[in-house]
Amino acid sequence: MRKIVVAVDGPAGSGKSSVSRRVAVDLGLTYIDSGAIYRSITWHVLQRDGSVTQDFSFTDDIGRLDITQRFTPDGVSLTSVDGTDVTVLIRDELIARNIGIISDNRDVRNFVNGLLRKWAGVKSLIMDGRDIGSVVFPDADLKIYLDASPAVRTERRVKEYKELGKNVDENLIKKQIIQRDEQDKRRPFGALVRADDAVYIDTSHMNMEQVIERIKGLVVKIR
Ligand code: DC
Repeated sequence: MRKIVVAVDGPAGSGKSSVSRRVAVDLGLTYIDSGAIYRSITWHVLQRDGSVTQDFSFTDDIGRLDITQRFTPDGVSLTSVDGTDVTVLIRDELIARNIGIISDNRDVRNFVNGLLRKWAGVKSLIMDGRDIGSVVFPDADLKIYLDASPAVRTERRVKEYKELGKNVDENLIKKQIIQRDEQDKRRPFGALVRADDAVYIDTSHMNMEQVIERIKGLVVKIR
């Protein structure tokens, strides 16, 4: 089988990560979570400075960070920074609140893109993000754009939180989702765009299994 790159882009809550992980496990690909790298850099800057300010700029220590990701056979993606496992730490709300300035920065994006491209030289990958098919791998073997209406994405997030036993304000979640859509689409570099040659899948009326089967079918065809 030849080495392939599958790019999965789409807005927050479209199911990119859950679906990509399952496709990876079922078809023996490595899953790469590009958002976790932006989260890791945000974590590092918060550790270093205590906050992320508007005058943030890329510094040498960021360029020297040893960020690694490991995908386990049972579908878990583990991220570490200079040997510290940050998998859980980077899911903190504080990271989400500070990530915008970091992921808007052109030098950060170039650094992350270099890392992602280096990893792609080694194994067959399925990678999710916002600009994977448009900027990072414009020549990806398969590009998917996963979408769902804001109402459906809100519903999914609320369900996830409830399953974790957390109290949620549905209106607030919806507001956050719409805000993130705008941030993602307006980013000066690496904005969320639907590549012309991406397969568009609106998952609003599909369950997760249906989405997984659809993508597996597409991957099997190009392998
Ligand atoms: O996928 P996620 O929610 O973990 O992503 C975290 C943040 O990183 C999100 O605000 C968008 C940004 N991101 C990005 O700018 N480019 C990517 N390829 C992936 C994520």
